[in-house]
Amino acid sequence: MSEIYGNRGIEIAGGAGAVAWDSTGKRYIDFMCGHGAALFGHAHPALVTALNEASGRPWTVGAGMRSPQREKFIEQLRDLVPDARVYLSNSGAESIEAALKLAVALRPGRKRILALRRAFHGRTLGALSLTFNPQYRKYWKDLLPEVTHISPENAAEEVDENTVAVFIEPVQGEGGVYPLSEETLKDIRNACNAKDVLIVADEIQSGWGRCGKVLASRVLGLEPDITCFAKGVAGGLPIGVTLWSRDLGDFPVKGHGSTYGGNPLVCSVASKAYDLLKSEKYPEKAARDGEAFRSAIKNMASPLVTEVRGVGLLTGIGLTVKANLVVNGLEEKGILSLNAGPMVLRFLPPFTALDEHYDQVLVSLKEILEGLEK
Ligand SMILES: Cc1ncc(COP(=O)(O)O)c(C=O)c1O
Repeated sequence: MSEIYGNRGIEIAGGAGAVAWDSTGKRYIDFMCGHGAALFGHAHPALVTALNEASGRPWTVGAGMRSPQREKFIEQLRDLVPDARVYLSNSGAESIEAALKLAVALRPGRKRILALRRAFHGRTLGALSLTFNPQYRKYWKDLLPEVTHISPENAAEEVDENTVAVFIEPVQGEGGVYPLSEETLKDIRNACNAKDVLIVADEIQSGWGRCGKVLASRVLGLEPDITCFAKGVAGGLPIGVTLWSRDLGDFPVKGHGSTYGGNPLVCSVASKAYDLLKSEKYPEKAARDGEAFRSAIKNMASPLVTEVRGVGLLTGIGLTVKANLVVNGLEEKGILSLNAGPMVLRFLPPFTALDEHYDQVLVSLKEILEGLEK
């Protein structure tokens, strides 16, 4: 294994719901969830059943052949965008690559691609060109397509007739958990409508119910042209979804493709996950739990906390100390969390986290912040 990820020194051996345990038997409340991919928690019984059933059928079918499991899942996605076209891939970055290629193909002759400061869209070359952090880009900058990064507030005025698309995370995740304002999004939408420019919503971290609706954009009043999902869509199995309305058009023939994208195994689990969003009302629960969690953190009134931000189950806490100090302290107390930049602590709890898990995280967080004050 490459050493790019560092090593937290934990070997995860098992998990159920919002709890994971390591190979020594130590238990953790998992509010990191594999960078948000275990959105339904670990080993959700309904997803395990769906996976078991799917494992006895073909795992993969050749491109150009139909699969009932894939068709069912695509039909479900049409609840979100009627008569949608869908391109299925295997990761967030791939869903963004697809959206970038699609947008360029749909707006031939235009050259300008806009993304936002603090944006994170992935690390393959196309996605990396849209990602803001210069540290992530520096070794490959000669290979990257040109993208202009602008502040969200200036985005509307930067949109012109030469612009292909604006890429937006409705709630910026890796960049520090910054929800965009409804007003800013409305201005961008109006500017894009006036110039026939596409809006691509990267909902890889914020979407699929985490922020209170299946489409996070809609929580903030935005109707994007193209939407990208990944992470929790199939409960943590690899998948990327690129979704757009049929009347926009399509890729040019042979313009894109993937061997594994849309495989029946993953589509079966994604389809069950979508059922759960509806039957268990997980997005609504996410909105309630996230709001209560953030309000309890604000009530701690810690002098080390500069701001508590977020929507639904995506929470960021601005700190006056390095976030990793808190991440490490929580880990010692049996809680998994992560950072979002050097000074922001991030929590990505699963839908299935219980009140007792939130309570334990709040108690431990308070103890750690008080300890760091001294
Ligand atoms: C908003 C956003 N876009 C894109 C990606 C890239 O997804 P992946 O790591 O699956 O390629 C991520 C991953 O964290 C993300 O949070």
